[in-house]
Amino acid sequence: PSTSRRPSNIVLIGLMGSGKTTVGKLVAHSLGFSFIDTDEIIVKNAGKPIPDIFAAEGETGFRQHETAALQQLLNQLQQHAVIATGGGIVTRPENLPLLKQLGYVVWLYATPNTLHHRTAHSDDRPLLRNADPAGTLRNLLEARADLYKLASDLKITTDDLSAHDVAYGVSESV
Ligand code: S3P
Repeated sequence: PSTSRRPSNIVLIGLMGSGKTTVGKLVAHSLGFSFIDTDEIIVKNAGKPIPDIFAAEGETGFRQHETAALQQLLNQLQQHAVIATGGGIVTRPENLPLLKQLGYVVWLYATPNTLHHRTAHSDDRPLLRNADPAGTLRNLLEARADLYKLASDLKITTDDLSAHDVAYGVSESV
């Protein structure tokens, strides 16, 4: 596609460990776009890290921050940005049209096994702080797959690809 037809933003969705942040930074770098992470906006607005938000306000409170972050981005009329989102952004129906308005939405898909490997060494995800994070990822994928599909313009299966390969695929698709 020619440069003039490029959507002004790229939005990355997918489960924890799908590579949204890593890939998003690479895509932003290669296209000369800025990089935005909805989780970072939430942390900044709330003044505390994500596990503390979950502890103090529950998942419902966190989801309210998440929708507010999307609305904030739309109001600021960001352009030429790659926007990485939290894995649960699709769980609120009102977020889906907001994602589409923000830009071209790419779903980074990976099997639960891959997601588990990629998230095994991080401790900043409250939903995975339990005895069976692999099972949690399986359940979340089952619960959210239809929503990711509905919300996205494109799905990329990332299991056997490096972050650079995925980033190339994203950049080429828009
Ligand atoms: C969540 C994913 C996290 C973060 C929060 C909840 C989810 O973002 O928003 O811990 O519900 O899947 P990442 O997908 O960037 O890890």
